[in-house]
Amino acid sequence: MNFTFTEEQLMIKQTAKEFAESEIAPTAVERDIKGEFPYEIVKKLGELGFMGMMVSPEWGGAGLDTISYVLAMEEISKVDASVGVIMSVNNSLVCWGLETYGTPEQKEKYLRPLAQGKMLGAFALSEPEAGSDATNQHTIAEKDGDYYILNGTKNWITNGTTADVYLVMAQTNRELRHKGISAFIVEKDFPGFERGKKEDKLGIRSSDTCSLMFTNCRVPKENLIWEEGKGFNFAMNTLNGGRIGIAAQALGIAQASLEAAIKYSKERKAFGKPIAELQAIQFKLADMATKVEAARLLTLQAASLKDQHKDYAMHAAMAKLFASRTAMECADEAIQIHGGYGYVREYLVERYLRDAKITEIYEGTSEIQRIVIARSLLK
Ligand code: CAA
Repeated sequence: MNFTFTEEQLMIKQTAKEFAESEIAPTAVERDIKGEFPYEIVKKLGELGFMGMMVSPEWGGAGLDTISYVLAMEEISKVDASVGVIMSVNNSLVCWGLETYGTPEQKEKYLRPLAQGKMLGAFALSEPEAGSDATNQHTIAEKDGDYYILNGTKNWITNGTTADVYLVMAQTNRELRHKGISAFIVEKDFPGFERGKKEDKLGIRSSDTCSLMFTNCRVPKENLIWEEGKGFNFAMNTLNGGRIGIAAQALGIAQASLEAAIKYSKERKAFGKPIAELQAIQFKLADMATKVEAARLLTLQAASLKDQHKDYAMHAAMAKLFASRTAMECADEAIQIHGGYGYVREYLVERYLRDAKITEIYEGTSEIQRIVIARSLLK
């Protein structure tokens, strides 16, 4: 792996950092408290090209590599992990999935506006009884002339109440289990499609998560992605890249925790000197920094493999597994270093801990990452 970033990659990182500090930071606390979606910020991210970073310019995207995406995701998530996940789902799951498996017509109609930030996308795989056990899909899609009729419920959908376009997995042949799953593009206004109420979450509260209900929802047959029976492979292949985005989101939270801990420990005095001079604090900072750096290297390695068109599924799972644990550990230590101040909103670190937890859950729990890693090792 080349450890030197290009001029372009460094410029993307700097742009993301400046945007995060000037446009995202001022409203982050209030949006977290109120659970408000960052409409204006997402619109501006679209104008910057950050909602379709890796999409080819042919389809309205910025045509950047995965390394640039990771650098931008870290900077954005460092300031607000809610904005990070909104961006990540649109880039990694929706745009990548459509660019890789969509027809030219689907790309023109959906990918182009999604990549330009004129539409927002969501990815709908999870169900009430199909979270980690994603093959256990109960949503049904029955062919009826030129349409598929969808019936079922999806759960925990990021961008759920705000998206324009949903990539939805459903069974076209239940007997074939996962080989009978297909993927569809559903527009928010399709008859029979309803979005549930926004979940009241522990963290990433400014992003919206909800259930989706399909009741005889008519989806035109040209909105089938790839081909019938390929929906599970579509979802798994797409999630491999999604895990790099979530690793970068976790990395952002971990880095923010580390920086907050360093700043506070230099300012806070105890026993007659700044607590940064106490070895007990120095050991914590050193451990945090080491883990953050290791998480960053794993994430960049997975991104680099993806950019080289090599198999990256195992490395993406390793990056997500390690970075999400690192985010939890660093946020926890940052609170510990802040003492009582870490437990109140004013010092931000309590939000980092609340936001960090989800990175161990979505796009596959940590247990699922271990399964993906072990299967790659054993195959
Ligand atoms: N990459 C590519 N293909 C994969 C894969 C991977 N990482 N993991 C499994 N597959 C493929 C297998 O090769 C197999 O394909 P074929 O039948 O064509 O050979 C198929 O998937 C079935 O695999 P298994 O027999 O191994 O299935 P399983 O049920 O034993 O295990 C699993 C599969 C890995 C546990 C899978 O169900 C999984 O990843 N679960 C987690 C789902 C998940 O991440 N959900 C997140 C929802 S999206 C989200 O959170 C987004 C958001 O809002 C932020």
